[in-house]
Amino acid sequence: VAFSVLDRALERGLSWVDTSEVYPTPFDARTQGDSERLIGRWLAGRGGDARDRIRISTKMAGPGTDQPWIRGPLRAIGRAALRLAVEGCLGRLGVERLDVFTLHWPYPDPPEQASPPHDGLHEAERETIAALSELRDEGVVAGVGVCNLPPERLADFASALSYLKTSWTQAPVNLLTPISDAERETRARHGIALVGYSPLAHGVLSGRYLTRGPISGDRLHRHGFLRRYRDRHAVIEAFDVLARDSGMTLPELAMRHAAHHPGVAGILIGPGRVDQLEGAVALAGDPLDASLEAAVAEIQARFLNTGTVSAGHAG
Ligand SMILES: NC(=O)c1ccc[n+]([C@@H]2O[C@H](COP(=O)([O-])OP(=O)(O)OC[C@H]3O[C@@H](n4cnc5c(N)ncnc54)[C@H](OP(=O)(O)O)[C@@H]3O)[C@@H](O)[C@H]2O)c1
Repeated sequence: VAFSVLDRALERGLSWVDTSEVYPTPFDARTQGDSERLIGRWLAGRGGDARDRIRISTKMAGPGTDQPWIRGPLRAIGRAALRLAVEGCLGRLGVERLDVFTLHWPYPDPPEQASPPHDGLHEAERETIAALSELRDEGVVAGVGVCNLPPERLADFASALSYLKTSWTQAPVNLLTPISDAERETRARHGIALVGYSPLAHGVLSGRYLTRGPISGDRLHRHGFLRRYRDRHAVIEAFDVLARDSGMTLPELAMRHAAHHPGVAGILIGPGRVDQLEGAVALAGDPLDASLEAAVAEIQARFLNTGTVSAGHAG
């Protein structure tokens, strides 16, 4: 199934494949790296043409006590860990270079002594960024990215990464995750691109959770870690009513809102089947008109905290 989704994505001209050394989700020692291996097998089977047409983004797990199986003693980030992580990703993917390499979750908080001459980065983060620059000079990594950072930490990283060719931040962009002014301003000030993920909030905005009951076979209920968007019935129902009153479905409202969000350079979709890929692309269509976006903002203000994207929300 995964190969058919990738084939169709290639046919449709979708250009980026995003993965991570920790995927698939939920993170598990037995399956860690399988997503990259699968992409590698697909690329190998499709020949050099596919590699030339697809851009690959993968990520390095960050600090923390979860996933102790990743890189063993080199679990934390730093120069040696980065080298090991990149080597592992290249090997599993069967490629010689990465179009973007992203820090999946750097330290969530700034170091305690983050005052001049420090730059707000942990020593391990500074070392990792310097090592990323070496990898870029060696032609192994073309661009770099970060994910899941609150605005003040994003600003520190953006300053440190500004000399690299491509830098982006990945964060959730969907109806259930309003983007704060502080985050928007930080990105604009530093010229850092936003790549939005989970436009359907892991599938919650497909509409099938409106029944409130458990649904067999879906990712949300199979994997407890996807709790971020669970138990949001009231707000999801409000978006569903808005969608229907506007002559569209909830997933259409969700996809159009995410795909055309101001400041979003692109979105990462997570289709599990070819029909989901086709559906997501078709639904993204045109931007919502201004009055509909205003109604979305009103629902977000009524039901959701309009705070920042908090760190540690990786997936
Ligand atoms: N940097 C990070 O920390 C981070 C975090 C999360 C994601 N990401 C990236 O973003 C990608 C997408 O994230 P995501 O999987 O959460 O995206 P998503 O598109 O919000 O959710 C995907 C889920 O939505 C459902 N779905 C997809 N297409 C559909 C359609 N056309 N109609 C109805 N339902 C549909 C499926 O759920 P069912 O399986 O229930 O059918 C699918 O598993 C990931 O693969 C990853 O590369 C990055």
